[in-house]
Amino acid sequence: MCGIVGYIGDQHAVPILLEGLAKLEYRGYDSSGVAVLQDGMITVRRSVGKLANLQKLLKEQELKGTIGIGHTRWATHGKPSEQNAHPHRSKSCVLVHNGIIENYQELKYGLERDGYKFQSETDTEVVAHLIDKYLTKGQPLAEAVRSAVREVRGSYALVVMSEQAPETLIAARSGCPLIIGRTERAAYVASDVIAMLAHTRDVIYLNEGDVAIIGRENVTVVDIEGRPVSRPLTRVTWDAASAEKSGYPHFMLKEIHEQPQAILDTMRGRYSYEAGEADLPDIGLTPRDFADVERIWIVACGTSWHAGLVGKYLLEELARIPVQVDIASEFRYRDPLIGKGDLLLAISQSGETADTLAAAREARAKGARAVSIVNVVGSTLARESDGVLYTHCGPEIGVASTKAFTAQLTALYLLALHVARVRGTMTAVDGKAWLDRLVRIPSLVEGLLGREAEIIAIAKRYHKKRNFLFLGRGINYPIALEGALKLKEISYIHAEGYAAGEMKHGPIALIDKEMPVVVLAPRDRLYEKTVSNLMEVKARRAPVIVFVVEGERDLGKVADGIFTIPDVHPLIAPILFTIPLQLLAYHVAVLRGADVDQPRNLAKSVTVE
Ligand code: G6P
Repeated sequence: MCGIVGYIGDQHAVPILLEGLAKLEYRGYDSSGVAVLQDGMITVRRSVGKLANLQKLLKEQELKGTIGIGHTRWATHGKPSEQNAHPHRSKSCVLVHNGIIENYQELKYGLERDGYKFQSETDTEVVAHLIDKYLTKGQPLAEAVRSAVREVRGSYALVVMSEQAPETLIAARSGCPLIIGRTERAAYVASDVIAMLAHTRDVIYLNEGDVAIIGRENVTVVDIEGRPVSRPLTRVTWDAASAEKSGYPHFMLKEIHEQPQAILDTMRGRYSYEAGEADLPDIGLTPRDFADVERIWIVACGTSWHAGLVGKYLLEELARIPVQVDIASEFRYRDPLIGKGDLLLAISQSGETADTLAAAREARAKGARAVSIVNVVGSTLARESDGVLYTHCGPEIGVASTKAFTAQLTALYLLALHVARVRGTMTAVDGKAWLDRLVRIPSLVEGLLGREAEIIAIAKRYHKKRNFLFLGRGINYPIALEGALKLKEISYIHAEGYAAGEMKHGPIALIDKEMPVVVLAPRDRLYEKTVSNLMEVKARRAPVIVFVVEGERDLGKVADGIFTIPDVHPLIAPILFTIPLQLLAYHVAVLRGADVDQPRNLAKSVTVE
């Protein structure tokens, strides 16, 4: 969840580190710091709060040197403070760390007995002292790092530097991503490829247990035992510009507007219209395998879990296969009854969410196959799955997920088509009709984005309210959950999503004229039931904002706000309803002056439990 950068080359390290940290700030932002080797000595500068504070400090107290490491922190052990900020140091080494050292207390007692004095409340500092212990015993830096991490339980991405090895950085990973970038005269290391894209696209993804010895001109990777391993150099196709705001006031708004492209890119080249089929070459399972699957389990967290809930409706209705959807953190600890014959579908934007990874590992350990829907190419989840369906929506920087969600829905539309066709529950003709609907989505989304003013008008009326309720039924129930999640994440308004039919079993007690209720009411087979719920809300004087499909005549008269989406197939409606709900959350948050791209206490990628 924190961000790591490192540089070794022939340029001044500080500007490169700060630029990399700025790209990673979204991963964690309560404090930051750098360490630079200058005239044979390593100096550390750290500061609390936004990166701007560190930038200011480094202007006042310059550091010159061509080797350095940097970090942005999101507190796990110990409050946000300068002492707890990274880099952490021991006598002979300095390091930055992402992840959690689970046995740090036990290690700390041992190190204290050896005479080490702790400066911070972090779990990270134990690793610095452990490495120092082995360096003091005469081990070279890379070996000392390997010895130290062998004692560690938990997860880590580490970058270590030492005055005793002034021409190298050592990187090690287990459970947290770490990537090395190369040019002819320099090497970069970071927890996310975005941090180095301005300098290089030639990267090496480290695997679990890898330790890399990074010099200016060469990189050697070894396993935990010190045996050399070969890791390919991969070319990254994302360019740095695609991770910038392109003129929008916030990344979130830019990403909302990128959705037509993201949906198109996710579909591109993945279907054969003539055959009425999806074409998913990396899915890892043959048609025969899919035909044999007895049950699908979807696991995910946050917004990705909402995509999974939509996926259940799609797969059950189109492919007639039972689907169970679980929150990954629940699935992993309840000894789930998954096994051979079952398929686990893990959904994750980052591909690094700790609970989702653990759920996929658990499923595979029990004999199930795991396929993932992931956005970040080369992420741990993608690499550990039997097959993968990438969402190709480009880097998502806004902490609140938007384009990744609609790209996940798109991937699920394709996957449901694929499974339905190979299992024979959909004919080629129906497959074609389905594809006809899918290919129209980008332009329909474009049309909705052009009507932002209507949503701004609604946002202006209700942005001062303190509670919101979102209601939906069937396949739009998860969209009600997502609408509420978006609003609470970025505007800090309490918002709940509910299945409309459940409203009478609790939330109705809260409803009064101060609680706007957002109702998704497409003209599907559940329309009349939803309208009844809406009338019950109205009777309690709550302002009602309805999201309906074209042709709706009645609800406009009773609603206090209305937004109409095009009349599409009921299974396509969820992706279209999502767009105005994202815009509603965004504009309410902006009107309330909230920090849209970096909401308090949230992180883009939750790589610890
Ligand atoms: C965090 C993010 C959410 C995201 C969730 C799952 O909570 O703030 O936006 O939906 O993690 O992340 P993933 O990368 O697995 O989709």
